Amino acid sequence: MSKDKINLQKEYIKTQISKIINSLNEELIGLTPVKVRIREIAALLLIDKLRQYFGLTSTNPGLHMSFTGNPGTGKTTVGLRMADILFQLKYIKKGHLLTVTRDDLVGQYIGHTAPKTKEVLKKAMGGVLFIDEAYYLYKPDNERDYGSEAIEILLQVMENQRDDLVVILAGYKEPMDKFYESNPGLSSRVANHIDFPDFSVPELIKIAKIILSEQQYRFTNEAENAFIEYLTKRREKPLFANARSVKNALDRARMKQANRIFDNYNRTLTKKDLVEIEASDILQSTIFV
Ligand SMILES: Nc1ncnc2c1ncn2[C@@H]1O[C@H](COP(=O)(O)OP(=O)(O)O)[C@@H](O)[C@H]1O
Ligand SMILES: [Mg+2]
Repeated sequence: MSKDKINLQKEYIKTQISKIINSLNEELIGLTPVKVRIREIAALLLIDKLRQYFGLTSTNPGLHMSFTGNPGTGKTTVGLRMADILFQLKYIKKGHLLTVTRDDLVGQYIGHTAPKTKEVLKKAMGGVLFIDEAYYLYKPDNERDYGSEAIEILLQVMENQRDDLVVILAGYKEPMDKFYESNPGLSSRVANHIDFPDFSVPELIKIAKIILSEQQYRFTNEAENAFIEYLTKRREKPLFANARSVKNALDRARMKQANRIFDNYNRTLTKKDLVEIEASDILQSTIFV
């Protein structure tokens, strides 16, 4: 390739980014704002690479990220994809994702936190460190909490080893916002904030159907309607966890189906009997009583 021209499409294909973005779009239901942001980040990274190629200044765009949203909205799933994208673009050498929480970073006793945090950082180098429920690192009512020690070390690495490690801080939106307010140093080093919306009922149904077909099950029409009704009620209850709650509900429905078939063991079975989830398998949920 001559040094004064570059084929954007070729470069794009070479990175395999298109493949990852397409599979992100196809396999993940909903999450439109998330997909748009990821595409923007990927575009920025690719253009930055191409600028380097022409000898233009490339300002290693800050890659640390914040994923906020309720449980089961796809934060961990997207984090894994993000690690892949960063790896394909050669921003990180290994492309693995290490998920940790406060307990992995912070010790119980004086002197335990620094070695713990450093050990985790060592393992994460070359990849993505995904800190789940990151706000637990900071306890505002306790000045001597060891969490702030972990944050200090983290900050240094986020600043000085940007080429070796990408940090994603994840958790519920409100406590994360508060966490950033109390830790402006951290906030200023996180360039990309991505909000994960709750899924709508139709999106949850699509997710349910994907899960079922992966397991070689399917809803009857009545069962699908029952599940719509179930999700509409379940969504309003506490501890609703989006796609994760869908998974759990389907596990229970399969159990009910097995029980129903078992109770009628004296008749012949067809393949269809074993594949179909019926409305009664859903309607037995305590949410309907
Ligand atoms: N957009 C999506 N489409 C299909 N399945 C999804 C989607 N988002 C999440 N899931 C599934 O839901 C489950 C929970 O997602 P996860 O990424 O662990 O959520 P979070 O980290 O936000 O709690 C995972 O098993 C994942 O495969
Ligand atoms: Mg998660």
